[in-house]
Amino acid sequence: MATPASRSTRRPAAGPVGPVDLRSDTVTRPTAAMRRAMAAAEVGDDHYGEDPSVRALEEYAADLLGHEKAVFVPSGTMGNFVALRASAAVGTEIIADTEAHIVTYEMGGLAALGGIQTRTIPGLADTAELADVAAAIRSHSIGGNYNMVRTSVLAVENTAARAGGRVWSPARLDQFRDLAAAAGIALHCDGARLWNAAVAGAVEPRRLAEPFTTLSVCLSKGLGAPVGSLVICDAGRVDEVRQWRRRLGGAMRQAGVLAAAGLHALHHHVERLVEDHRRAAELAALLANAAPGRVDPKQVETNMVLVEVADAGRFAHRAAEQGVLVGAISPTILRIVTHLDVDDAGIHHAGSVLADLLRAEPAAA
Ligand SMILES: Cc1ncc(COP(=O)(O)O)c(C=O)c1O
Repeated sequence: MATPASRSTRRPAAGPVGPVDLRSDTVTRPTAAMRRAMAAAEVGDDHYGEDPSVRALEEYAADLLGHEKAVFVPSGTMGNFVALRASAAVGTEIIADTEAHIVTYEMGGLAALGGIQTRTIPGLADTAELADVAAAIRSHSIGGNYNMVRTSVLAVENTAARAGGRVWSPARLDQFRDLAAAAGIALHCDGARLWNAAVAGAVEPRRLAEPFTTLSVCLSKGLGAPVGSLVICDAGRVDEVRQWRRRLGGAMRQAGVLAAAGLHALHHHVERLVEDHRRAAELAALLANAAPGRVDPKQVETNMVLVEVADAGRFAHRAAEQGVLVGAISPTILRIVTHLDVDDAGIHHAGSVLADLLRAEPAAA
């Protein structure tokens, strides 16, 4: 039987001998080195601003991303909420992509807890015309107008998760910065996977962060930390961010144990994302070869592969029976995500199982 110590450093089995979990890059477990950093962390009461490890993480992240302030929060969902709420008053609206995480997967928190409505536009990252985005922003002054809701924030997601980890070009980000500035509204980035976007585009993370008023960046996705995200903002918004974090129950105490994992992740797990991207590209090429028309390798820019199947739930179930876990993001679309805990052997095993299942599918229309 595993002792507590052996359990604490165990890695998930990859490859033919155990399940290969490709549902998400959130399934990673802390590495032994990360656990050592956590165990050695200096801690204090973060709610009093006295946790040295949290402070170190916040200062490091703010500097890395070229903004004045960073606030450690438990999750990306909370990060998005508190950042957006710091710019969006009750009764205003946020413009986001139709498929955005803040619209799809955050339990309607902006409306339920924030009193904010969302207005969605498809293809914000690439196909939406800038003129249409500009026209959607309702930035009139309220004076004398008692009808029309006011837009307070334009929200971007980089990488775009439901689009299969697509990367925003820096040029498009700059165009959105200019749109938001011209309208006098804030520009927010859900940068849960900003690190993947930076590595894929061979640009510094701060270049991708520069256009934004606020960002939420995650440490617990591809970077492999067990918990934690950071809200990046200016000094003028940081009090509001901290107040909302507290209001939601997100102010923590000896959180340095978690912050140490986050710092370790930022120091050691960003550059290696290139390996996840390579494995995703290899898997996409293999699956496209096995089942032409079901996978488009050209769309694979980071660590996600989207696959079209007849019945995504049934396909995922059959793959699981053969030790490969994949996610269904719609009735007919599978999402496969590479990450820190999957090696080449795991990808080869998954590739052969998934390719066989795809070959058994009816041909793509
Ligand atoms: C793009 C994106 N934003 C935000 C989140 C929310 O992060 P969390 O699960 O830490 O709340 C996720 C989660 O996977 C995500 O993919």
